[in-house]
Amino acid sequence: MDLGIVEVQQSFEEEVCQAGDAEELEKIRVRYLGKKGKITALMRRLGQVPPEQRPAIGKMLNRLKEHAEEVLASRLEELKSRLSEERKEKERLDITLPGRPFQIGRIHPITLILEEIEDIFVSMGFQVAEGPDVELDYYNFEALNIPRDHPARDMQDSFYIDGEVLLRTHTSPVQVRTMESMAPELPVRIIAPGKVYRRDDDVTHSPMFHQVEGLAVDRHITMGDLKGTLLLFSREMFGREREIRLRPSFFPFTEPSAEVDISCIICDGSGCRVCSETGWLEILGAGMVHPQVLEMSGYDPREVTGYAFGMGVERIAMLKYGIDDIRLFYTNDLRMLK
Ligand code: PHE
Repeated sequence: MDLGIVEVQQSFEEEVCQAGDAEELEKIRVRYLGKKGKITALMRRLGQVPPEQRPAIGKMLNRLKEHAEEVLASRLEELKSRLSEERKEKERLDITLPGRPFQIGRIHPITLILEEIEDIFVSMGFQVAEGPDVELDYYNFEALNIPRDHPARDMQDSFYIDGEVLLRTHTSPVQVRTMESMAPELPVRIIAPGKVYRRDDDVTHSPMFHQVEGLAVDRHITMGDLKGTLLLFSREMFGREREIRLRPSFFPFTEPSAEVDISCIICDGSGCRVCSETGWLEILGAGMVHPQVLEMSGYDPREVTGYAFGMGVERIAMLKYGIDDIRLFYTNDLRMLK
């Protein structure tokens, strides 16, 4: 008795040959090996085969089934690897293409000026110190001889966090913090660069800007030391021919106090639009550290003296680069930053 095994095998082989993807192969598997599949049906009919033929035909059927499973599996592998070959071919990278140009950033003009100022003072033996932007009222005002309700507080309209804490309005609190941590060690010779904050906003004022504070404390420090140091700084920064002048001024934490001007870098002192025809440009505030401030910070004003100064970095950058609107530093316009 022949169950038609050969025909089933033939049609199976043909169908497998024509199958183009895994989905079709799966359909073939169901059609032949599934519950109602053709090979499965053949196996069911084994019972009808006369007993003496049953072992031989049973063997044939088992072989057919195994063969079918193997063919399906290897065909599936074949299809898969062909597919991935095709995909690889399609997605191949052309590594001979030139790369995209990479935009290298550059240092912001304010940072450039800050670094230049630091280099000049470091070469004169100053160390760089830092303090927090969010500062205690005590360090920003009180310890600098500006008690609560002192009219000098009006010069620096501040951003308060609460009654005791504010965004520092100047870098002068670093004077106090440094002396406090060093006293009674001598000499103190630091600069303190950093951000400061005031409620100001126009072409020459920004609510956030940068200052560099300077402080020197030792025995026998005089106003002559202050003037010599600032003259050297001005010449390093703005050219050998610069002159400086000190005008009397007032700060609660220095006595005497001075406003320091450099001879105009545009007209060299003969008078022009930039210096409002005066021949001078104001670049910083300075003075001799007030005895009260020395005392509060742990130094004995009968034994030591000191000078301090504070300069606006944006102001210096504007003069040096000829920029007339401070906001240009913060609007990130590449045409200006370049
Ligand atoms: N802190 C002062 C200001 O911001 C500047 C200054 C610093 C003056 C040190 C004297 C001494 O206006």
